[in-house]
Amino acid sequence: MDKQLVELNSVSKRYGDRVILDGVDLTLHPGDRLAIVGPSGSGKSTLLNVIGLLDQPDAGTYTIDGTPTEGMSENAKAALRSKAIGFIFQLHHLLPQLSVLENVTFPAHALAVKPNWSDIEARGRDLLDKVGLKDQESKFPAQLSGGERQRVAVVRALINQPKLLLADEPTGALDRANADSLTDLLLELNESEGIALVVVTHDAAIAKAVGSVVEIQNGKLESL
Ligand SMILES: Nc1ncnc2c1ncn2[C@@H]1O[C@H](COP(=O)(O)OP(=O)(O)OP(=O)(O)O)[C@@H](O)[C@H]1O
Ligand SMILES: [Mg+2]
Repeated sequence: MDKQLVELNSVSKRYGDRVILDGVDLTLHPGDRLAIVGPSGSGKSTLLNVIGLLDQPDAGTYTIDGTPTEGMSENAKAALRSKAIGFIFQLHHLLPQLSVLENVTFPAHALAVKPNWSDIEARGRDLLDKVGLKDQESKFPAQLSGGERQRVAVVRALINQPKLLLADEPTGALDRANADSLTDLLLELNESEGIALVVVTHDAAIAKAVGSVVEIQNGKLESL
């Protein structure tokens, strides 16, 4: 059996006296994919942020790629995050003053082991080509369509060759056609590069395409 990539055991998280996550168990292996659904405010982003080391549980344990996260320093978390995890959000969060190529290579500046920059740029160009943005590297975000910006955000999330791609409503700001093509792209990357994929979505069609779906209900995960 594959080594576990993500292992949450009895993870709980509360804000004030509101329990958001109530003893969540979740295991992901390399290359797995999962859609997380649930009503607004049910804790989907909270769970994704815990998995992405942006937030920490109040109780329970989280082990990522064999490394227990409890007691880990913020610096160690940031280093692990840069190396192992890619994020995509509802809004692309591209930096407006940077070109497409500068945006997609930006996360490589945070790697603890400094990469060869021409290799990083070559990977960026290769991925831009793969997502249909060949010859767009010198443009600025304002010169792209919404769907194109979101594909740039996907490339940025992949630049450090993460094992885990976390997407929080990645298609929330896109029309149907762009939402479907972005979903196809994420699924193809999951298959071709073996990157584990976790997608938070309100969109039933996307959850269905991902195939494996959990719903957050009263702080617990129910398989659908
Ligand atoms: N930093 C915070 N401080 C206090 N409460 C918070 C904080 N972050 C989230 N919450 C609350 O926790 C609950 C879960 O929030 P979360 O963002 O995880 O929901 P969600 O399922 O992602 O919702 P949506 O679908 O609207 O994005 C919400 O009621 C929210 O108000
Ligand atoms: Mg959310």
